[in-house]
Amino acid sequence: MTKKIKITENGPYEVSPEIPLVQSIIVTDDDGTSVSWKDGKKYPDQTEPYYLCRCGRSENKPYCDGSHEKPAGLMRKKFDGTETATHGSDEANTRVYEGPELTLIDEESLCASLRFCDRGPRVWGAVQNSDRDYLKQMAIEEACACAAGRLTVVDKEGKVYEPELDQEIGLVQDTALGIKGPLWVKGGIPIEGADGETYKIRNRVTLCRCGESKNKPFCDTRHRNSKNMIGFDK
Ligand code: FES
Repeated sequence: MTKKIKITENGPYEVSPEIPLVQSIIVTDDDGTSVSWKDGKKYPDQTEPYYLCRCGRSENKPYCDGSHEKPAGLMRKKFDGTETATHGSDEANTRVYEGPELTLIDEESLCASLRFCDRGPRVWGAVQNSDRDYLKQMAIEEACACAAGRLTVVDKEGKVYEPELDQEIGLVQDTALGIKGPLWVKGGIPIEGADGETYKIRNRVTLCRCGESKNKPFCDTRHRNSKNMIGFDK
């Protein structure tokens, strides 16, 4: 059977048992800027599909504990997991920046605010000055570290720079902010919507697990203000 992540209607992510689950920890420099990733805890292997919380309310994160079914908040509402993202590329929100050596493709609606693009002159400035070797290298590193897949760099020969990623799900741990981040889906794992339609397959993309994204199923940075995401995964 094909490995996939299946979005259930107003419920959790159903994950094929062959897909490993690990913690992906952001490593920062002295200023708190994100510079690289390291692996944290690996969760037990599974023999049956497993269910990851999508609503942010589970007391047993990262797993679903059924809380999405319970009324919560001031309005006493159950979780509304309606998907609003486009299944393909979001061309209306994609910009292309041309530099001397590199082109940056910026699909802004995928941003998860993990801040790998903030080093030096930021990735946009580095691309604009990519005729300097160290800035070209910095732009490639910053774009490739972008877990959300918002940023992609291409050189003038058409080479697309993509990191090599094993197929797994990373539970983002945002060390500088002391919060849990989205699910980092690595290596082109298919993501199937509740309607049965598969989203564009991406080498890297982040899925909302605070329940508050306005671009579901993808993260849109709102976990940063969600009380459900305070602290790290156990
Ligand atoms: S999706 Fe079930 S508890 Fe969050």
